[in-house]
Amino acid sequence: MRSALYGPGGFYVRPGGPGPAGHFRTSVHASGLYAGAVARLLRWVDGELGHPRRLDLVDVGAGRGELLAGVLAALEPEVAARVRPYAVERAERPEGLDPRIQWAAEPPGGVTGLLFANEWLDNVPLDVAQDGRYVLVAADGTESPGDPVEGADLAWLERWWPGGDRAEIGRPRDEAWAAAVAGLERGLAVAVDYAHTRGARPPWGTLTGFRAGREVRPVPDGSCDVTAHVALDACAGPGSVLLTQREALSALGVSGSRPPLALASTDPAAYVRALSSAGEAAELTARGGLGDFGWLVQPVGIRAWRPADAPAPA
Ligand SMILES: C[S@@+](CC[C@H](N)C(=O)[O-])C[C@H]1O[C@@H](n2cnc3c(N)ncnc32)[C@H](O)[C@@H]1O
Repeated sequence: MRSALYGPGGFYVRPGGPGPAGHFRTSVHASGLYAGAVARLLRWVDGELGHPRRLDLVDVGAGRGELLAGVLAALEPEVAARVRPYAVERAERPEGLDPRIQWAAEPPGGVTGLLFANEWLDNVPLDVAQDGRYVLVAADGTESPGDPVEGADLAWLERWWPGGDRAEIGRPRDEAWAAAVAGLERGLAVAVDYAHTRGARPPWGTLTGFRAGREVRPVPDGSCDVTAHVALDACAGPGSVLLTQREALSALGVSGSRPPLALASTDPAAYVRALSSAGEAAELTARGGLGDFGWLVQPVGIRAWRPADAPAPA
């Protein structure tokens, strides 16, 4: 998984590739409403931090920087002027990106603000275990049993994924998340992803592939994305809150309700805009879709954000 995604010629780092948006649709690509919601969350963090002179916004696994650009555009100039946007990404900086956005392969330290990671952790490579053994995989995707799982991996399985015939050992995601959060001095860290929790792990795991918008066999040859859902409860550090995307976004003002029909006659253009925005909101919050994603909200030195703390609409 590591070499297929990030090794030489890897799926995510191949120069000139279309980027994640060319292969699958994340919330970031689905609608600008998503960046608007993150902007609203950033305003809340700003308030909790007492409106610091420098407000950091770190996007881990930033793709082509689309979310950062969207958040900057959604903020009022007074706030945007204080924001230091930072993309953490293994792929190269795309041409034409807003020059305010810094680009680096590793998360920065000393962050004061919001660290956000949309669909990052599901691409952090992991091992798969079946019947107590590691699963080995050849470059054509053929699987065979390897050594018995032991040590820290076995301890992780016993604690977080007991009893499954086939399980995805989430330890590297826990570690990646903890390392990213360690760079946060004060503020909020949020990871959003396909997720499951201990009471409901998928019995056969979730390892799969995506190519050009289609789900495909997860062949680790660099031709497709290789991904597995995230045990977000195992990643959660002290004071964390776990929510669904539906809960989080509706508190951040993303609503799928249709505009009143009366608007159609008083202001038809506004009605059409509101209708299309309601359609996008419905996609972001859909049951059986993006709305089921997990939001792990982890505070450092401030309180955790909860839907009841939703800031008023800007
Ligand atoms: C599924 S894409 C998500 C892109 C974007 N956040 C979005 O939601 O549209 C995952 C991205 O994470 C990046 N990535 C994965 N592991 C990383 C790491 N350890 N450091 C930096 N970037 C990483 C990949 O290169 C890829 O661009």
